[in-house]
Amino acid sequence: AVLVLDFGGQYCQLIARRVRECKVYCEIKSYKTPVTELAKKHYKGIILTGGPKSVYDEKSPHCDKALFEMGVPVLGICYGAQLMAYTLNGKVSSSEVREYGKTPFQVKNLQSPLMQEVPETSVCWMSHTDHISEVPEGFETIASTKTCPIAAMENRSEKLYAVQFHPEVEHTEYGQQILRNFLFQVCDCSGDWIMSSFIEQTVADIREKVGSKKVLCALSGGVDSSVAAVLMHKAIGKNLTCIFVDHGMLRKDEGDQVETVFRKQFDMNLIRVNAGPQFLEKLKGVTDPEKKRKIIGEGFIRTFEMESRKLGKIEFLCQGTIYPDVVESGTGDAAVIKSHHNVGGLPKDIGFEGIIEPLRNLFKDEVREVGTQLGIPENLVWRQPFPGPGLGIRILGEITAEKIAVLQEADAIFREEVAKAGLSKKISQYFAVLTNMRSVGVMGDGRTYDYTIALRGVTTSDFMTADWARIPYPVLERTSDRIINEVKGINRVVYDITSKPPATIEWE
Ligand code: XMP
Repeated sequence: AVLVLDFGGQYCQLIARRVRECKVYCEIKSYKTPVTELAKKHYKGIILTGGPKSVYDEKSPHCDKALFEMGVPVLGICYGAQLMAYTLNGKVSSSEVREYGKTPFQVKNLQSPLMQEVPETSVCWMSHTDHISEVPEGFETIASTKTCPIAAMENRSEKLYAVQFHPEVEHTEYGQQILRNFLFQVCDCSGDWIMSSFIEQTVADIREKVGSKKVLCALSGGVDSSVAAVLMHKAIGKNLTCIFVDHGMLRKDEGDQVETVFRKQFDMNLIRVNAGPQFLEKLKGVTDPEKKRKIIGEGFIRTFEMESRKLGKIEFLCQGTIYPDVVESGTGDAAVIKSHHNVGGLPKDIGFEGIIEPLRNLFKDEVREVGTQLGIPENLVWRQPFPGPGLGIRILGEITAEKIAVLQEADAIFREEVAKAGLSKKISQYFAVLTNMRSVGVMGDGRTYDYTIALRGVTTSDFMTADWARIPYPVLERTSDRIINEVKGINRVVYDITSKPPATIEWE
């Protein structure tokens, strides 16, 4: 394995992901881990991440010189590079200005193992204030930028390498090549690791942690919680119980599908709570979007608690947290546009010994890959994101059972048509919204006065910003025709052509 030693940089996980993309297994550990402990692991290589501080700052994270004397190849990135220089008696200086963004980059030594197949000039991504101003003894500069003469250095015989820029971000043109070079030219990794090894490893870890104790999982039917639950089930079988709170505002037939997959296919202990009527009762007369979210979120937690209490003592709670969730919840000062209260997100204090998050280090596409390997059906693994409050926030105004049924039908038609056109994986999220607006229409010889359905489709990679999807007219046309003909109560269909920002993806 390769070790990613975390000095608090924001790109730590991204480095790990890039390593996994090279089919090399890697672990992340804190810089606080003693070198003696690291030595026992016989890592093939160690990558030091960036970090927010200056090496001269007393409070900044430092490392033991012994780290560089174990005979294990080391690659320092950004702060990690400076730390290498500093620890080995080179010199690090502070610049007046921060160098930030895409920067032309020149390789000085094309023979360097780290620079194999990297052209003499390309573009790298910089984000730093300090820089290495003098290489330590035995080191040589292998790349430069205009303002940063020592953009990369090496001590080839000791297998120590350092880069001031960030090879892990896409903006560094040959970043992945440089990482590959470190892994394959320097560390001699074999590159045969696959996602199924992640499954094996995680199953073993879970077994060790849980033993014969019991675990509870809140299943929402979404990709993350489903994959987490199946992984957990693989590890501990019937000692896992899943509670699936069906709040009655899922997409058409979704509740039954979830039940079929988990109960029939995987033979899991599954408790499905059909709480639709209770939720509707609480939502009666409520039209404010944030109030709806709050009621649904709280209702979910109360229902979950009530059911879990019936089960007696359960030691662990399993959650489908994935890496982007960890990052997003880390930015504390953004304005609240919507309380994205994830209905799967339970309060931490409901009496568990511990929480297990087996997918915490994975990105979404990796979660899907794990799900596929675990044998979860394709339509579930590739399910588009669905907000916790469900159709509750896609029905503008008061929610009623009739409106839910209308929206479920319209939404199912839209999804069917998109799938038939082979577009389901191309559009990040697409759905129907039941607006609260009625308008006049004519059907046959009669006047109608019915609701409008809005269709929404977006493309995005991170859901923070999004563009409206250019769905081909014929697909929209068929969807519209079918909704008008097949769904009672709808006489008009519109397509939402707003991007985010200024609009959000959901309508509420
Ligand atoms: P917006 O509407 O803010 O949505 O552009 C961005 C992404 O988040 C999803 N979303 C939610 N997910 N609980 C959730 O679990 C919520 O209350 C919620 N609101 C929005 C939305 O579907 C989109 O993928």
